[in-house]
Amino acid sequence: MQQTAAEYILQQINGFKPEIGIILGSGLGELADKYCDIQIDYKDIPGFEASTVVGHKGKLVFAEISGKKVVMMQGRFHFYEGHSIQKVVLPVKVMKKLGVKTLIITNAAGGVNASFKPSDLMVITDHINMMGTNPLIGANDDSIGERFPDMSEVYAQEYVDLVKKIGNDLGIDMQEGVYMALTGPSYETPAEVNMARILGADAVGMSTVPEAITAKWAGMNVIGISCICNSAAGVSTVGLSHEDVIRAAGIAKDKFMTLVKEVIKKL
Ligand code: HPA
Repeated sequence: MQQTAAEYILQQINGFKPEIGIILGSGLGELADKYCDIQIDYKDIPGFEASTVVGHKGKLVFAEISGKKVVMMQGRFHFYEGHSIQKVVLPVKVMKKLGVKTLIITNAAGGVNASFKPSDLMVITDHINMMGTNPLIGANDDSIGERFPDMSEVYAQEYVDLVKKIGNDLGIDMQEGVYMALTGPSYETPAEVNMARILGADAVGMSTVPEAITAKWAGMNVIGISCICNSAAGVSTVGLSHEDVIRAAGIAKDKFMTLVKEVIKKL
């Protein structure tokens, strides 16, 4: 499937060779509006589908940012939309075929760590997969990666340090921590957030981990950045809504975009 999708895309992009891939989470999509040399709608790519989530578009956008050739996903496939876990990670396999070496994965997340404030940015140092599945289940494509890939350092310390330094140099108060992925689409209960904290998570969300596992398996460098959009359930007394998450992402948008652009420049 990734072969057919990649072949279709290659026909559209006239020899453009992206070296960096970016998955744009809630609120970050604007980066692909601002920088867009070539765009392809997901609905036209074999195996891809239109996004079903409000606030998420469905386009693959190719552009040169800070002097680097990048491919951006404006909108991702979430497991909670009912897509198979293989569909969720198909774009990552396609990016690998297009020659992407480094994948920057962004998302909106709930803060489990009580010291995090809404609109903070968190560099992901590690993850906990609580989705109850794994994107590598099934036949292994040995030409891309091994059957039992090592996950001891999905988010290389070198890149964690780089992102933190760039953020701090830009005057952004950077957080760092462990991201736990659950399936959603319901937000967590306070008891589940408590579990996440006890297990060592600093943030919870509904994405990123399948893509990160697949990218690491495929030998890519992985960088993860969360926008902490709200305090997770029970961390504060305020209830949660998708609108509030989108609003907080909107507030963080400018610094998030500045950070990502600067990271691209330094890669
Ligand atoms: N939980 C899970 N996913 C999220 C949250 C949350 O609190 N906020 C934004 N995405």
